[in-house]
Amino acid sequence: MRQQAEANICSEKDFAALTQDRQWRQVNRTMRLNNNQPEALIETLHAVQDTFGFLDHQAMAYVAHVLRVPLSRVYAVATFYHYFSLKPPGEHSCVVCMGTACYIGGSSALLDQIQQSAAIGPGETSKDGKVSLVVARCLGSCGLAPAAVFDGRVAGKLNPALMEEQLERWLSHDPEA
Ligand code: FES
Repeated sequence: MRQQAEANICSEKDFAALTQDRQWRQVNRTMRLNNNQPEALIETLHAVQDTFGFLDHQAMAYVAHVLRVPLSRVYAVATFYHYFSLKPPGEHSCVVCMGTACYIGGSSALLDQIQQSAAIGPGETSKDGKVSLVVARCLGSCGLAPAAVFDGRVAGKLNPALMEEQLERWLSHDPEA
C-alpha cells in the first residue's frame, strides 16, 4: 500500500511535470549542465536544498530518476551530510531569493523585515518553531523579483510590508496562513 502511494507521488507523469516547473528550474539546470550524470548527485542535492530548504522524498526520487542513481544512494548521501535536511525544521518554511534580480529588487530589505518580525536570520528557525528561513541563489522566477517561496508556493513582487503580513499570519496561528 505504502509502495503504491509512493509510486503515485513519483510517477513518470509527475517527473515530466517537474522538468517544466519553474520552481525546479535551478535544480534541472544543475543536472542538465552536468549532462544528467550520476556524478552530479551532491551538487544537485545542494540545488534542491538551496531552492526548497530541505529534501523530501519526491525531490530525492526525482533526482534519482533523472541522474539514474538508486534512490537508496540518494538517501545515503542526503543523510550522511549534515548540510542536508530531510524536513523543514520549522512548521512553516520561507525561502528568500538572493539571486541577482531579487537582490537588485530589494531582497535584503525582506531579510531585514524577517529579522525584525521573527528574529531569525538565514538558516535559522524562530524560537517557537513556527518559521524557518533559508536563502536561495535563484528560484527561476526572476520576473517576479523579489521573490520567495512560502511553504512551497512562490510569491513574487514582495516588499517588507507583504513579508510582515505573511509572517504575522504564521506567527499568529492563523489557520488561513
Ligand atoms: S534571482 Fe530571484 S528568482 Fe531569479
